[in-house]
Amino acid sequence: MTAYETLQKDLTASPRTWLVTGVAGFIGSNLLERLLQLDQVVTGLDNFATGHQRNLDQVEAAVTPQQWARFHLIEGDIRRRGVCQQACKGVDYVLHQAALGSVPRSLEDPLTTTEVNVNGTVHMFAAARDQRVRRVVYASSSSVYGDDPALPKIESQLGASLSPYAATKLIDEIYAGVFARCYGFESIGLRYFNVFGPRQDPEGPYAAVIPKWIAAMIQNQPVHIHGDGETSRDFCYVANVVQANLLAATTPTPGAVNQPYNVAMNNRTTLNQLYTLLRNLLAPDCPHLNQHQPAYQDFRPGDVRHSQADISRAREFLGYAPTHRIEQGLETALRWYKDNLV
Ligand SMILES: NC(=O)c1ccc[n+]([C@@H]2O[C@H](COP(=O)([O-])OP(=O)(O)OC[C@H]3O[C@@H](n4cnc5c(N)ncnc54)[C@H](O)[C@@H]3O)[C@@H](O)[C@H]2O)c1
Repeated sequence: MTAYETLQKDLTASPRTWLVTGVAGFIGSNLLERLLQLDQVVTGLDNFATGHQRNLDQVEAAVTPQQWARFHLIEGDIRRRGVCQQACKGVDYVLHQAALGSVPRSLEDPLTTTEVNVNGTVHMFAAARDQRVRRVVYASSSSVYGDDPALPKIESQLGASLSPYAATKLIDEIYAGVFARCYGFESIGLRYFNVFGPRQDPEGPYAAVIPKWIAAMIQNQPVHIHGDGETSRDFCYVANVVQANLLAATTPTPGAVNQPYNVAMNNRTTLNQLYTLLRNLLAPDCPHLNQHQPAYQDFRPGDVRHSQADISRAREFLGYAPTHRIEQGLETALRWYKDNLV
């Protein structure tokens, strides 16, 4: 049995209480769904800045009424002290996902990104400390590797940050270390690489590449590639990210806490390859794609050129063993987009 299979059995046998911040978002709602399916008690916190009620409605439809009754939503902002304190009451583990994502958004509005991603995270850490939460797992990002060209990325080797968004995630990691040293606080930062899957928002100027391209291909719109298409990413299906969160929250391995982990596949897919993969998967249902070609544009400021994770630390300390490769993940994600895109 894998560490994750053992953990899921253990959680079902003795349920814990969890707080998921950013619960109405893409990753948060996938965490909620899995936790409820494991009969856990879950508080969710979200201000619906980029999250949607429809994501919570889909989780409700995916679990039993008894499981749904174990969920309690607080609509509120992580920048408010009282809200964070209330949300952490009686909680064993916090999975802190709430943030303003997107490098371009942070370049346009660094202040709001910093207020939410840094001040909001410190509020969550302080509330978790005050309410004696056992451990906080928080969403960091591969963007912290910045301009360091080395591949694959290993956790100890960072470059200079290339965007305000990257800086906020790095500052969160610094604060996690400070809280560990000053207050004996337990946390684990998960450096997600490019995550994709059902419920990732395809709309708006800050949409991530996979949902944006899927929507464009289904609707026979142009697909824009920034740069020459040889930019590469380590795309990671959301179920693997859910696994990493649950393992990180509960790992008893000595020395596992208070350090960051890469969460990805240790793979590298170029944007050109991703385009071909998606077009081939969608072509049987969308004959118009036989004529479809990508439109190449300028490189985007703040984007790193290549990204690929070394995931050996997560394997060793957390027992992380990804269950979905990119092709499997894309097939599931595509089914969801076909059913849900109007
Ligand atoms: N999706 C990725 O590829 C990726 C990669 C690296 C890191 N991350 C990080 O993972 C986390 C989740 O990302 P996601 O892709 O699910 O994004 P998302 O935008 O779908 O979810 C973020 C959620 O946080 C909520 N939120 C934002 N500001 C808030 C505030 N002030 N108070 C309360 N709630 C607030 C939003 O309403 C939303 O529901 C974020 O911290 C993000 O930076 C994501």
